Amino acid sequence: KTVTLIGIPLEEGSGRGGCAMGPAAYRIAGIASALHELGYAVDDRGDLRPAPASDLPEMAEAKHLPIVGAFTRAIEAETYAAARNGTVPILLGGDHSLSMGSVSGMARHAAEIDRPLYVLWLDAHSDFNAPETSPSGNIHGMPVAFFCGKAEFVPILPADRPFVDPKHVYQIGIRSVDEEERRMIRENAVNVFDMRAVDEEGMGSIVKRILGDVREAGALLHVSLDVDFLDPDVAPGVGTTVPGGATFREAHLIMELLHDSGLVSSLDLVELNPFLDDRGRSARVMVELAASLFGRRILDRPTRGG
Ligand code: ARG
Ligand code: MN
Ligand code: MN
Ligand code: MN
Repeated sequence: KTVTLIGIPLEEGSGRGGCAMGPAAYRIAGIASALHELGYAVDDRGDLRPAPASDLPEMAEAKHLPIVGAFTRAIEAETYAAARNGTVPILLGGDHSLSMGSVSGMARHAAEIDRPLYVLWLDAHSDFNAPETSPSGNIHGMPVAFFCGKAEFVPILPADRPFVDPKHVYQIGIRSVDEEERRMIRENAVNVFDMRAVDEEGMGSIVKRILGDVREAGALLHVSLDVDFLDPDVAPGVGTTVPGGATFREAHLIMELLHDSGLVSSLDLVELNPFLDDRGRSARVMVELAASLFGRRILDRPTRGG
């Protein structure tokens, strides 16, 4: 079994600097050795650094479109190729606009092998804005609408690319949704488990229900983990912290259930901002969670440093 690491030094979708240092922080925090120790062959493709796309316009409603669009194209191609080669792509972000490319690449792969693609979106935010609804113009608030075909951009990817059915998107941890975005997720029937649902039903039962749906559909499952899904006390290294986030234990439980399911085809680690982090703590938490998703268990984990 092989995982493909793809570094995405992209921060222009987020409206501030710092996320471009994310891939370096994940490598320093030991993402490759953690996966290697779990028995995976690790193919680190380095960082993608596309030039801005000269055919895409600057737009106030979708800031830095030429660079974000260029990344979308490069990420789509690289993710698709990694999945088609039988490996599990892991995107080391980079802000959340990178999922426009990763999810689109996985949707192309899934369509080719005639399976649906489901998406598990772990985030404080729904990221279902379109350029015309976004209060900020930051594209990292738009990726879900984009890969569901609900965001009006000038053409970034070829017109024949497959979209994800919004009914196949499951979001957990949601606690910050803009006014128009609320209407968009309702109209498109996105499956949203907000923090109230987590508190009332429990993380375990929600995730088991979702995994049951994925298995029944015979689908591939793409997981997109935004650092701000976690409570700011657990992971402060992100530009869009929202109080009341997931605990380390809840996040860890999700990762172990995902591993047990054997359903995960691809993973995004996004929005880490090392400039805002506390001595690498958030980077290490994200690596820890990724390791759990790929099979590390509490009971057979080597104990280090006493
Ligand atoms: N909803 C806000 C916006 O559209 C915040 C989005 C935050 N997204 C993220 N990936 N951190 O601007
Ligand atoms: Mn997000
Ligand atoms: Mn977020
Ligand atoms: Mn369906």
